Amino acid sequence: MRTPFVAGNWKMNKTVAEARELVSVMGKGLAVINNVEIVLCPPFVSILAVANLIGGTRLGLGAQNLHWEEKGAFTGEVSPAMVKEFCNYVILGHSERRTYFGETDLTVNKKIHAALKAGLTPIVCVGETLEENKAGKTAQVVSTQTKEGLQGLDAESAAKVVVAYEPVWAIGTGLAATADDAQQVHCDIVRKSLADQFGSDVAQKIRILYGGSVNAANAAEYFTKPDIDGALVGGASLKSDDFIAIVQAASN
Ligand code: PGA
Repeated sequence: MRTPFVAGNWKMNKTVAEARELVSVMGKGLAVINNVEIVLCPPFVSILAVANLIGGTRLGLGAQNLHWEEKGAFTGEVSPAMVKEFCNYVILGHSERRTYFGETDLTVNKKIHAALKAGLTPIVCVGETLEENKAGKTAQVVSTQTKEGLQGLDAESAAKVVVAYEPVWAIGTGLAATADDAQQVHCDIVRKSLADQFGSDVAQKIRILYGGSVNAANAAEYFTKPDIDGALVGGASLKSDDFIAIVQAASN
């Protein structure tokens, strides 16, 4: 059995003061749900504040990016070891980073290797754009991103990775993929390409999250599907009651 997993991707939202306020409201409600792996991913500058608030609870902490190099002249970047001082997780290859900041399958691959080497669990995002979806290219795009992103990992490392299927057209739009469609992509595309690459035993261990307009009302249906192991939640993770409801749905 794969442990259900729900991560909140705050993106570029909340000042440190606002982050503290959100976590102090949300933390207690989340901390009592004990059968879901729960991860909060605030912006870098709020990581320390959130770490101090959730220390000693079962809530996990993640960054939204890192650089693959260990240190040096990389202005504005944050190394894997710096992330690992506070976090156990890191979101990599989010479509917003691919679209606005030039990330490619190659840079995502370097980051995944660096994250695992530092002892972090990468949450690797894959997903097709609306144009690709309409052109019938979902399988090609998603399997390429999965294969190239995880290229060169050994089976033991690959089993630690969490993959998030996030169709780009569903992110922040309110147009969530149906649970049936997401299940089909998770099973027939993502898990299949993981099985081709690492064998079916490893593929069965890897958690595959759905992301894209998950909310308190639609979350439960995703979690009824056998290959949807959790959710990567953007907008709704900024609202205490909604995020708790989503995690509760994953727990049921
Ligand atoms: P959304 O974002 O839930 O606001 O659609 C999901 C994500 O980008 O991870």
